[in-house]
Amino acid sequence: MKVFTTKNALKQHLDAVRAAKKTVGFVPTMGALHNGHLSLLAQARQQCDVTVCSIFVNPTQFNDPKDLEKYPRPIEADMAKLEQAGCDVLFNPEVNEMYAGNENWHLEIGELETLLEGKFRPGHYQGVTQVVNKLFNIVEPTKAFFGQKDYQQVMVIRRMVQLLNMPVELVMCPIERETDGLAMSSRNIYLTADDRHHALVLSKALYDAKAAFEKGLTLKDIQTQASTLIGNEPGTQPEYFELADGETLQPAKPDSQSIVALVAARVGNTRLIDNVIIR
Ligand code: PAJ
Repeated sequence: MKVFTTKNALKQHLDAVRAAKKTVGFVPTMGALHNGHLSLLAQARQQCDVTVCSIFVNPTQFNDPKDLEKYPRPIEADMAKLEQAGCDVLFNPEVNEMYAGNENWHLEIGELETLLEGKFRPGHYQGVTQVVNKLFNIVEPTKAFFGQKDYQQVMVIRRMVQLLNMPVELVMCPIERETDGLAMSSRNIYLTADDRHHALVLSKALYDAKAAFEKGLTLKDIQTQASTLIGNEPGTQPEYFELADGETLQPAKPDSQSIVALVAARVGNTRLIDNVIIR
C-alpha cells in the first residue's frame, strides 16, 4: 500500500493511474477502522481498478470539541487492516494539509442538512460537505463508497454532487452489524458492558418497526411503539426515532416510495445512530 500525507504527491500518483485509463474507487473515513469500513473497501475493490482510502479526523464536522479530542486514532492498527484488506493507496493528511488556517466558507445544500442529525449536530453536515468536497477534488474518484449507516450523510453528499455537477458516482453500501444486531461504529469502543447491552434497543426498535410495517400497522403507531421501547430502556436517552421518506428525509407518508426508520440516542455517554430501510 502506498501512503501519502500531501495532496500534491497523491494527485501526482493518481494522475498517472488515470492516464493509464484505470478507474479509482474512493473510501473516505475518519479511521478507527472496523468491518463496516472494510466492507466499503471490498466493494471498491470489486468495482474499481485502484482503491484509495482516506483517514482524516475532520475537525470541522465535530460540533462537540470533547468528541473531537477523544476520537480514537489508532493509525498503526488501521494501516495494518488496510494493507491486509488489499487497499492500494492511503491518504492520511494532517489538519494543516487540508485546511489553510481559518477557512470561513461552507456549502449550504438546504433542508436535508438541518433535519434529524442536523438538528442535533448543528453545522455537522457543513463540515462533512466541506471536507468531502475537498477530498473529491484531490482524489477525483470514479466512484466513492459510503455506508448506509450514515444514511443522511449519503443523501447530503448525493445532493452536493448533484448541485455541483461533480463527476463521481456514489455507491451506498449496507450496514455491517455485530452478530447481536448492534451497528458497527468507531464509537462502540466507548460503550461499557452495561451500555453495550442497552444499545441493542436501537436495532431492536428498528427491526420491530420493519416487522410492524410489514404487518400493516400505521406509521403513527409504529413511531409510538418504537419511541416507547427506547424510552423505557435504562441508561438510554432517545434523541429521535423517525420514519422518514427515503429521498427527502421529511416525515414519511403512507404513499412514500421509500421509507427509512432512523434513530439516534445517547447510551451512557456515547451517542449512537442507526437505521433500517423499511420500504
Ligand atoms: P466514518 O465515521 O469513519 O465512516 C466512514 C464510512 O464508513 C462512512 O461512509 C460510514 O457510513 C461507513 N460506515 C461506518 N460504519 C459502518 C457500518 N457499520 N457498516 C457500513 N458502513 C459503515 O463518515 C465519516 O467517517 C465522515 O463523515 C467522512 C465521510 C469520512 C467525512 O469526514
